[in-house]
Amino acid sequence: MEILQSAAALQAQTEIWRQNKLRIGLVPTMGALHEGHLQLVRAAAQDNDVVVVSVFVNPTQFNNAEDFRLYPRVPDADAALLGPAGCTALFMPSVEQMYPQPTVLRFDFGPLERVMEGEHRPGHFHGVATVVSKLFHLSRPHRAYFGQKDLQQVAVIRQLVADLSFDLELVAYPTIREADGLAMSSRNRRLSPEARAVAPRLYQALALGASLVEKQQESPEAVQQAVEQFLAAEPGITLEYFALADGRTLQPVTGQWSPGSLVALCLAAHVGGVRLIDNVLVTLP
Ligand code: PAJ
Repeated sequence: MEILQSAAALQAQTEIWRQNKLRIGLVPTMGALHEGHLQLVRAAAQDNDVVVVSVFVNPTQFNNAEDFRLYPRVPDADAALLGPAGCTALFMPSVEQMYPQPTVLRFDFGPLERVMEGEHRPGHFHGVATVVSKLFHLSRPHRAYFGQKDLQQVAVIRQLVADLSFDLELVAYPTIREADGLAMSSRNRRLSPEARAVAPRLYQALALGASLVEKQQESPEAVQQAVEQFLAAEPGITLEYFALADGRTLQPVTGQWSPGSLVALCLAAHVGGVRLIDNVLVTLP
């Protein structure tokens, strides 16, 4: 596996691959890799001739300086995991490489980012779209891989690809969980043992909500209340939001269930000072 640290080196490499008609898969990450990331890398290795994995903690998508500072960084451990998973080139740029000058262009995804993560982390998706656009231009992938753990991010990037005519296929993979249901996340490394013990309640709350949605005997508002009450009973967890949303548009589901629709149950919560997000999807009959 090759390690590339400059934008020019990545561009030069992808140019050669393109000339040789090799199919390029891209997996963008912020490192502190876990099984959720590695599954994306393995999928990319299956589907393509070469795989670029980027590890870059992107400052422009953090709306909280402390969160950026505390984000786990373990480059050597990441590099050791990537070769065996099928990564051909690991792209680990510095902030200066990715942002040689401050960006001026602003991304606004309209209704897609007026809810959930967009609403609660102003500017977050602008930063994600900026860095992902740069990574798409530098690595010119045929396919790019993202996890449904960040459901709204997938929706935003799908919009980005459509609006800017990026010539690539977006591939979304289901969320990988720990045995007790907790969604894998780089941020889980920051949980104290006490916080780690209560964190699976987030998935339990989503599973409770999903079972109520499947039955369709309660209104969306009643499901909302049931999930919120379940989490309010756990003193170690502070809920930031729980939302019932259309799985594609991410707009709120209210009043009645629509037959055949995809319903997303999404939440963000603070557990022992660490902000975690999770979601589950339910397809209605
Ligand atoms: P990061 O949080 O490192 O995640 C990188 C990719 O791994 C994302 O597509 C994310 O959805 C996926 N992922 C994370 N945890 C997962 C899990 N438990 N199961 C399945 N997939 C999972 O998301 C980002 O980085 C950044 O916003 C990025 C897209 C790299 C832009 O900076």
